Amino acid sequence: MKLHTENAFAGLESIVTENVDLAPFTWYRIGGPAKYFIRPAGEEDLREAVQRCRENNVPMYVLGLGANLLVSDAGVNGAVFRLSEEHWRHVKFDGVKVQVGAGADMQKLVLRTVRQGLAGIECLAGIPGTVGGGIRMNAGGKFGDLGAVVTQVTVMDQEGTVFERYKDDLVFDYRSTNISAKFILGATLELDEDDPDRIMKKTKEIWMYKRNSQPLNTKNAGCIFKNPRGLSAGALIDQAGLKGFQVGGAEVSTKHANFIIAHPGCRADDVMNMVKIIREKVYEKNQIHLESEVQIWP
Ligand code: EPU
Repeated sequence: MKLHTENAFAGLESIVTENVDLAPFTWYRIGGPAKYFIRPAGEEDLREAVQRCRENNVPMYVLGLGANLLVSDAGVNGAVFRLSEEHWRHVKFDGVKVQVGAGADMQKLVLRTVRQGLAGIECLAGIPGTVGGGIRMNAGGKFGDLGAVVTQVTVMDQEGTVFERYKDDLVFDYRSTNISAKFILGATLELDEDDPDRIMKKTKEIWMYKRNSQPLNTKNAGCIFKNPRGLSAGALIDQAGLKGFQVGGAEVSTKHANFIIAHPGCRADDVMNMVKIIREKVYEKNQIHLESEVQIWP
């Protein structure tokens, strides 16, 4: 069995960089390096790089905007793919349909659709990420989620095969989907015509709700835990008396207890220890196990 060899990506030097610090690619700004960092220019590049990973047993990771991600201090001994080149960021309007690349920025897309008088994704106002990342975890909140407007997705599996999946066989649940293919390449969203001023007003209200209830101007990765059915993880952590609690450079937000803020000097280990402590305290008090919402690498 061949293991990571030095020339696993020979000939792909233009898209593969070795030992790239991942911290700048995450909202937390913490975590170690990726052994390989791969930015494919298009589908062919991606397929070739995926094949090399398979041949050389290199584990694959897909990075979006890093907004819901905690990278360990040791980093990732594998290949981190980022679909950030122009090919992956296309946005094409066709009536109420929008074809969009997985690497497109969700916040920019929200603004564009609102301006076009298309309603349906204003519920994502203030949620950072790429469209691919948003679909992967069915980004959203109490005002709705992305899955509700997705009618088609194009994906690539670990073998490099590209295929389409359509609305009738797609399931979007709370922060999850039944899409198992490794790479989401793009999607079609179907929106509703509406008055731009009305949608803008709603978008602003949603954004204000977040701004008033969440610590937006801090280093964080959004909500750390999923809400247990019918309950709020934030309220449970708050009731356990953990607001303001600190471990190293990590602190439970005093504004919303489901956010762990990273202060200067914070390490991924501090956040991980905090996750463990919160789980223990909430379990002690309520016998409820909190499941993490944030992706933790590796
Ligand atoms: N609450 C507290 N203390 C806290 C935080 C919340 O008592 O420290 C109470 C609030 O007063 C409220 C209830 O808990 O009565 C629910 O709080 P909130 O309205 O803030 O909603 P949430 O369930 O905590 C969810 C999503 C957020 C999303 C908001 C708004 C999850 C885990 N969280 O938060 O998503 O922004 O609704 O749509 O599903 C994220 O996914 O990263 C995220 C932040």
